[in-house]
Amino acid sequence: MPAELDVDPRTPIPPSEQPARLARLEAAVRARTAIVPRYGIVLGSGLGGLADDLAGPVAIPFADLPGWPAATAPGHVGRLLLGHLERTPVVLLQGRLHLYEGNDPGLVVEPVLLMGRLGAATILLTNAAGGINPAFGAGTLMVIADHLNLTGRTPLLGPNADEIGPRFPDLTAVYARKLRERLHSAAAGEGMELAEGVYAGLLGPAYETPAEVRMLATLGADAVGMSTVLEAIAARWAGLEVCGVSLVTNAGAGYTGQPLTHEEVLAAGAEAGPRLARVIRRFILNSRESGSV
Ligand code: HPA
Repeated sequence: MPAELDVDPRTPIPPSEQPARLARLEAAVRARTAIVPRYGIVLGSGLGGLADDLAGPVAIPFADLPGWPAATAPGHVGRLLLGHLERTPVVLLQGRLHLYEGNDPGLVVEPVLLMGRLGAATILLTNAAGGINPAFGAGTLMVIADHLNLTGRTPLLGPNADEIGPRFPDLTAVYARKLRERLHSAAAGEGMELAEGVYAGLLGPAYETPAEVRMLATLGADAVGMSTVLEAIAARWAGLEVCGVSLVTNAGAGYTGQPLTHEEVLAAGAEAGPRLARVIRRFILNSRESGSV
């Protein structure tokens, strides 16, 4: 029986099982395309538009990849795409696997590990987030300087796979300074300015209470969301370079006195998504011109 017909996304995936799983995933992708990506880009809520800019795209629905379930969050399409952006080979994740859907942390991070296996040395994570820093209103694009993993979960639980990464990975500089600088210069080239700050990753799926928003501000967070942190940890474990951008879609709960809605988050993503897409295209174009990876 093909395993992909019978995926239980809650099944624990310890690091030690990742090498065999990634080998199967890599083979499934390689059966469809020979593109070797330089960048892996995870597109968050409402940010999927960048996929339309891809030249010569090969799109693989999650459900066609061994061990992956169909993505379920509204606003998330759920496919892996390989193609060229600014004549540079890239792999995009349109929609991602979230913890709040019941996915095991090991499954949540498999897309970024697969991107690395396929050849991407640099991972760019994007997400929609609530603004904790009062200066970061809806529409703010924030380069992630560092994160707080407040999910209470880790993708690295269980026996390690030393061939992928160390038992105790260093997280001193998860979001590479040189990539953060390149994001700022790409934005400047587009006549925009990016904010920068700390992203707090929570389990969700409920938005925060106003008391939790005040707590997050006290803890040093500038933005809050329900993704990204586990992917960043796994990517660093695997030796990949990481950067990230949060699209602030709303002020944190309690700041305006109005309830938060998923529709508001998607609408703000639709408004600001094209701006972030311009920054990403310029980021890739600049690296091509400077010859850096
Ligand atoms: N909180 C958590 N996740 C989010 C938010 C928020 O306010 N907005 C968009 N994603």
